[in-house]
Amino acid sequence: MKLLITGMAGFIGHAVARRLAGEGHEIVGIDNLNDYYDVSLKQARLADLADCERVQFIRLDLADRAGMAALFAAHRFDRVIHLAAQAGVRYSLENPHVYADSNLVGHLNVLEGCRHQGVEHLVYASSSSVYGMNDRVPFATADAVDHPISLYAATKKANELMAHTYAHLYGLPTTGLRFFTVYGPWGRPDMAMFKFTRAVLAGEPIPVYNHGEMERDFTYIDDIVEGVVRVLARIPRPDPQWQASESGPDTSSAPYALYNIGHGSPVSLMGFIRAVEAATGREAICDFQPMQPGDVPRTWADTQALFDATGYRPEVGVEEGVRRFVAWYRAYYGV
Ligand SMILES: NC(=O)c1ccc[n+]([C@@H]2O[C@H](COP(=O)([O-])OP(=O)(O)OC[C@H]3O[C@@H](n4cnc5c(N)ncnc54)[C@H](O)[C@@H]3O)[C@@H](O)[C@H]2O)c1
Repeated sequence: MKLLITGMAGFIGHAVARRLAGEGHEIVGIDNLNDYYDVSLKQARLADLADCERVQFIRLDLADRAGMAALFAAHRFDRVIHLAAQAGVRYSLENPHVYADSNLVGHLNVLEGCRHQGVEHLVYASSSSVYGMNDRVPFATADAVDHPISLYAATKKANELMAHTYAHLYGLPTTGLRFFTVYGPWGRPDMAMFKFTRAVLAGEPIPVYNHGEMERDFTYIDDIVEGVVRVLARIPRPDPQWQASESGPDTSSAPYALYNIGHGSPVSLMGFIRAVEAATGREAICDFQPMQPGDVPRTWADTQALFDATGYRPEVGVEEGVRRFVAWYRAYYGV
């Protein structure tokens, strides 16, 4: 297949591109290489893909309407994996406009490209953050998610609504994936795993929010990739029998699907820190701090719908995943 991967220089985009290139697909990857975090890490991920024969990279901003239309017209993709976005909950309080540009305008440009070029299937990244104030656990896609608590979460929920509209109006098959705290080799420097490892190895204190009273459903990158690849192969179909009054928010008469991809077992923040200590062989210096605005105290994925659809459940536990991350970190940074 000929595939478009947006955000290919990103953490998840790079890993998905490597896997799909290995399966022989032709891949065009785009990314604007913005400096939200260390650009050299994004460039290193692209360099890591250089040995993949059928992978091409184009520097392009999702919000560039004409550029995106030209990209879709020039390539005629079979399927699209849309991972580029402005990520990060806390940064959306500082710089909200970049979330509107990349996540709303950018998402619309992807939908328009898919619609006009008759793409078979659009798979796009949503986020566990859409669950917001939901306190029913585990979080299921059948739950109502109308109370986001960050602009980032609101843009991801908006992405799902926009995708549903295009599925309904134009019959564009779309699948949204709510990722739960992804970590692993080539990970993101703005995320806890990366920050904790760097600080612990440097003997510096780590900020521990909500005084450690947090739980996250940490999901290893290989599990995310496996989920994306399996879902990509499963094109949602319209369901003419569907009735709104008898159905939940995650189903539709339109060719529309939505899944959580999370490990399915929340780990306490202190448990996570212990795993970093075990993997680094160093003790963490904890700087306990209050809850941060926009953050939720707990995430926990209900993984049943993904399993029913694909026969797959994320497998890698946090001790093993942290060990693999720390090994990569030490090799990459030579520490
Ligand atoms: N990593 C996680 O824990 C997590 C959790 C939930 C959802 N997600 C979502 O998964 C997707 C991938 O996340 P990631 O962790 O790989 O993040 P990432 O920041 O490493 O990757 C995103 C990539 O998109 C690019 N990008 C951003 N805005 C762009 C624009 N306007 N035009 C073109 N490129 C642009 C960035 O340069 C970056 O390389 C994102 O949509 C994110 O919101 C990630």
